[in-house]
Amino acid sequence: MISSVLPTYNRAPLSFVKGEGSWLIEADGRRFLDLGAGIAVNALGHAHPALTKALTDQAGALWHTSNLYQIPQQQALADRLVEHTFADTVFFTNSGTEACELAVKMARKYFYDKGQPERVEIITFDGSFHGRSSAGIAAAGSEKMTKGFGPLLPGFVHLPFGDHDALTAAITDTTCAVLVEPVQGEGGIRPLPDASLRGLRDLCDEKGILMILDEVQCGVGRTGKLFAHEWAGVTPDIMMVAKGIGGGFPLGAVLATEDAASGMTAGTHGSTYGGNPLGCAVGCAVMDIVADPDFLAEVNRKAGLLRQKLEGLVGSHPDVLEEVRGSGLMLGLKCKVAPGDLVAAGFDAEVLTVPAADNVVRLLPPLNITDEEIAEAVSRLDRAAGALAAS
Ligand SMILES: Cc1ncc(COP(=O)(O)O)c(C=O)c1O
Repeated sequence: MISSVLPTYNRAPLSFVKGEGSWLIEADGRRFLDLGAGIAVNALGHAHPALTKALTDQAGALWHTSNLYQIPQQQALADRLVEHTFADTVFFTNSGTEACELAVKMARKYFYDKGQPERVEIITFDGSFHGRSSAGIAAAGSEKMTKGFGPLLPGFVHLPFGDHDALTAAITDTTCAVLVEPVQGEGGIRPLPDASLRGLRDLCDEKGILMILDEVQCGVGRTGKLFAHEWAGVTPDIMMVAKGIGGGFPLGAVLATEDAASGMTAGTHGSTYGGNPLGCAVGCAVMDIVADPDFLAEVNRKAGLLRQKLEGLVGSHPDVLEEVRGSGLMLGLKCKVAPGDLVAAGFDAEVLTVPAADNVVRLLPPLNITDEEIAEAVSRLDRAAGALAAS
């Protein structure tokens, strides 16, 4: 008999009743060190006092009014995002998938309004992930996500990851944009080299097409910059954000330049919940912490510490682990065993990680994890890898 929760997930036999910083606690008191952070969502860990205060203060005042009216918290968060990024304007969503939907619509409308309605194609890359809506799965294009779901939304061209020559050849008079994750998350923590991102920007400029970055997983301080593309010194035309921006409250956004957003006039897009007072109050509290250069400097320092300890771990378990890769606190352990086995061994050692494609286990800890917790995390991973080596 089918479970009352639609069984689209293979869930671990764990259930948590409380979160404290980098820790998740089960009803029996077992404490797990959370290196998954809700898949890069709990950017400031669990129950951060500033976020809890922002949410509960707002909950006591006003939950929802709709986008028919001015929403001061939404205005404040948009202002913060515009102040700290390339963007001139922001639309708020409830998730990364919805951000993908708008990014696709915005790019197509841009060229439609410029008298080039034939420019509808968006180039994407193998191993990418942009969400589970019809546009999201068509954008990623993998059979695993698309098979059985009927006619796919047309207008996506899929290329090998990081193949600049294939990209140059694939851009035609019907291309409107290139969509890429600066660091692939679900695809197995695969960073696009800075030089490639710069080359991509140059190519988009040369061909007169838009660059859309999906920073749903790699954004909001995760790589040690507020947004990952900053490392390459280039800016996109459109950017998708979600996950960390709400610190655990469902919140996403599309950021864009004034030019790229020019087609999105009143009535062209909307959302009942997107940008509601609760989500945006929390988003402001997240931004106030994460956009601080001192906070980002600490993320980079801790990332160096974690990476160094993980290199040691790989050296100690050559039969289980192959390499460490990634950027900032978005790290992957490439495994010689099935990544699910390492994740499961982690459950016994009371450390939580997240599997990804390409035989990788993802480590996406809260950005404010402490040095002591990093040391403890690696010692628990050492126990997990040791148990696998012994089995
Ligand atoms: C890069 C990327 N884009 C889009 C999404 C979809 O976001 P959501 O699950 O919030 O709809 C994800 C989620 O994992 C993601 O990692």
